[in-house]
Amino acid sequence: MPTLDFLQKRASIPARYLEDPAPNADQLSEILTAGLAAPDHAALRPWRFIEIRGDARHALSTVFTEAALRDNPETPADKLERIAEKPLRSPLIIVVVATITGNHPKTPEWEQIVSAGAATQQIMLAANALGFGAIWLTGPNATHPHVKAALAVPEKDQIVGFVYLGTSSIKPPSPKRPALEHHLSQWQGT
Ligand SMILES: Cc1cc2nc3c(=O)[nH]c(=O)nc-3n(C[C@H](O)[C@H](O)[C@H](O)COP(=O)(O)O)c2cc1C
Repeated sequence: MPTLDFLQKRASIPARYLEDPAPNADQLSEILTAGLAAPDHAALRPWRFIEIRGDARHALSTVFTEAALRDNPETPADKLERIAEKPLRSPLIIVVVATITGNHPKTPEWEQIVSAGAATQQIMLAANALGFGAIWLTGPNATHPHVKAALAVPEKDQIVGFVYLGTSSIKPPSPKRPALEHHLSQWQGT
C-alpha cells in the first residue's frame, strides 16, 4: 500500500480481536526501534517500553484487580472478572512510559509526554507495517499508583498507553474519519 494510503487508512483493532501470533522478538525489536525515532525536544529520550507477554499477562491481571480492590474493596466479582480479563485479550502488551525530567530548561513535562505519545504512534504504525493489529488503551490503570508501582514506574513518570498487539482476526475496519474542514483553519495574520 502506498505510504500515504497506509497513514490515512490506519485503524485500531479492538483488543479482543488480537490473537496469536504476536510479533516475535525480532519483529518487536523492529517495532520498538521505530518508537525510538519519535520527535524528541533536547534529546531527552523520554520514553521507556515494557514488554508483557505470555504468562506475565496473568500477573498484570492480578495487578489490575488489586488496583480495583484498593479503590473499592467491595468491587463486585463480575466487575473484577472483566478487569482481570483485560490484559489477556491480546498476546502482547507494550506499556509506553513517559520518563519525565522535571524542570528541564528547554523541554517542559507536557512536551515529554507528547514525545512519548509520538513514540506510541510510531510503534502502532510499525506494528501495522509488519501486518499486526494494534490498539492504544489507557483507562484508570494507566494512572493508578498500584499499577505504576508494580511496573516499577516512578511516581514522576506517566504511563501514556498500554499498546495491545497481535494478529487481527478481523478484516481491518474502515472507520469514518472527520471532515478536514472541521479541523483546519487558515490564519492570515492579525
Ligand atoms: C491516549 C489514548 C488513550 C486511549 N485510551 C482508550 C481506552 O482506554 N479505551 C478505549 O476504548 N479507547 C482508547 N483510546 C482510543 C483507541 O486507541 C482508538 O483510537 C479508538 O478506538 C478509535 O479507533 P481508531 O484509532 O481506529 O480511530 C485511546 C486513545 C488514545 C490516543
